[in-house]
Amino acid sequence: MRQNHLLPCLLVLLTVACAPAPQSELHIVPQPVSVTTGEGFVSLAGQSVWVDQAFGGEAVAAVEDFAARLSKASGRKSRMVSELSQAGICFVLDETLAPEAYTLVAGADGVEVGASAMRGVLYGLATLQQMLPEAVFTGTRQRCVSWSVPCVQISDFPRFGYRGLHLDPCRHFWEAREVKRYIDVMALYKLNTFHFHLNDDQGWRVEIKSRPLLTEIGSVRSGSCIKAEYGNSDGIPHGGFYTQEQLREIVDYAASKGIDIIPEIDLPGHMLAALAAYPELGCTGGPYEVWTRWGVSDDVLCIGKEETFAFLEDVLGELCEIFPSKYIHIGGDECPKDRWKECPLCQARIRQLGLKDTRHGTKEQYLQNYVTARLQSFLEGKGRSIIGWDEILEGELAPGATVMSWRGTEGGVEASARGFDVIMAPYTYLYLDYYQSDKRELEPYAIGGYLPVEKVYSYEPFDELDEFQQSHILGVQANLWTEYIATPEHLEYMLLPRLLALSEIQWCPRDGRDFERFKESLPRQFAILDAMDYTYSQDVFGIYGMPSK
Ligand code: ACM
Ligand code: ZN
Repeated sequence: MRQNHLLPCLLVLLTVACAPAPQSELHIVPQPVSVTTGEGFVSLAGQSVWVDQAFGGEAVAAVEDFAARLSKASGRKSRMVSELSQAGICFVLDETLAPEAYTLVAGADGVEVGASAMRGVLYGLATLQQMLPEAVFTGTRQRCVSWSVPCVQISDFPRFGYRGLHLDPCRHFWEAREVKRYIDVMALYKLNTFHFHLNDDQGWRVEIKSRPLLTEIGSVRSGSCIKAEYGNSDGIPHGGFYTQEQLREIVDYAASKGIDIIPEIDLPGHMLAALAAYPELGCTGGPYEVWTRWGVSDDVLCIGKEETFAFLEDVLGELCEIFPSKYIHIGGDECPKDRWKECPLCQARIRQLGLKDTRHGTKEQYLQNYVTARLQSFLEGKGRSIIGWDEILEGELAPGATVMSWRGTEGGVEASARGFDVIMAPYTYLYLDYYQSDKRELEPYAIGGYLPVEKVYSYEPFDELDEFQQSHILGVQANLWTEYIATPEHLEYMLLPRLLALSEIQWCPRDGRDFERFKESLPRQFAILDAMDYTYSQDVFGIYGMPSK
């Protein structure tokens, strides 16, 4: 067994060639829970690597990939070895740790990462890589740098079990490779849940084999509106969708990085792309068009028709075949009730169900509750749980639903008081489509708002909540809608570095956050993002606008 982790790293000092020794400030994001720095450094160049096979194939593959990149970048081979005693870098099983926790000890004889499960291994690895020269992320040979890391003892685990990020591929479509890059940067900062918003008024993005017109017709719009001039389309067709095969591949890719994907079918509103394909599912029967403007459409699914439920069950049934996630997101936001008020079939359904206006809601609101409850029981029959935007809370909501609070924190405060699980994603702190700087004239056009990285960082999900409510907060998520974001560079620019601030809300203990310390870590993180060729904003340092590449 390896021992004596924190012996002074004398040996190593000899191996440092031509670069100055690394500074002992680690600048890791998210900041680990506990870091104790020792004396000296240990060089990892050429160190052999061992991983306990009990972690499973994906963890082993991640470690092997790291060893291969370290070898290439350092120019000295880090072999995978089958004997723990031969290893200078090892990943050992420690069943006393929680599944997402890890320990990392760097001492004279190398580095030992302890974990009890795959995610702990991945997070230990993520931390270790942030301690190394950034070339390790790409495996690009980097001469004349030190491959030493400071002797240190880290003990780390997340504050929240749900650490989410959302992406909208409907307003603008993102190719599978771009989605994977998005997942890569999530993994770098220890997020574990990707919320994939797969349909909206402006495009249907998931292949549904039993309903082929959804993608044949619903995946393409004839143009996009120019900035906020709603009457003004650019006339350039925009579209795209993911095949089921591509989505399965993305699911596997994300899983290998410790990330679950929660798919969303937004219903019963935000359905114009589906209505363009199947107009018989609307109250008026159409015709409808995949929307070329942004906003909230009055045209929604007709709830008076049984065909609507047959359609939704087909869609959600196929979705469950693609995505193994515990949760399926059924949207529920921004569903105007105008059509239902006028529709004889919707009104007949309201009468049949005996729905009435009350002090708490209109009968049309209760009709939306009926949709939610019916799909909840359909999905529970398949072993899944639902998440909905906070509108699902209006009126009645069956136990077992999880509420995603986006219209501020109020929905989350109320839902948790009523005993529902909650994911906090308030637009006031976590909508990444807002401007990052107040120098709007220097920024790419955005939907509005002003959300600098400092404001994101200041969000505290437990403010306003008592202990009972806190126990219902599963975690925190940021959302990235893409009405005005049309290129991968712009998408990344809006995401970064606000994603890093999000990661500290999600990971660090409440008293473990400090904006000044976080800000000091950004130059180091920017070097990593540069190596991985991500585009990011430097507004926080007074450098405004998107860099041209
Ligand atoms: C939303 O931003 N409409 C959930
Ligand atoms: Zn109707």
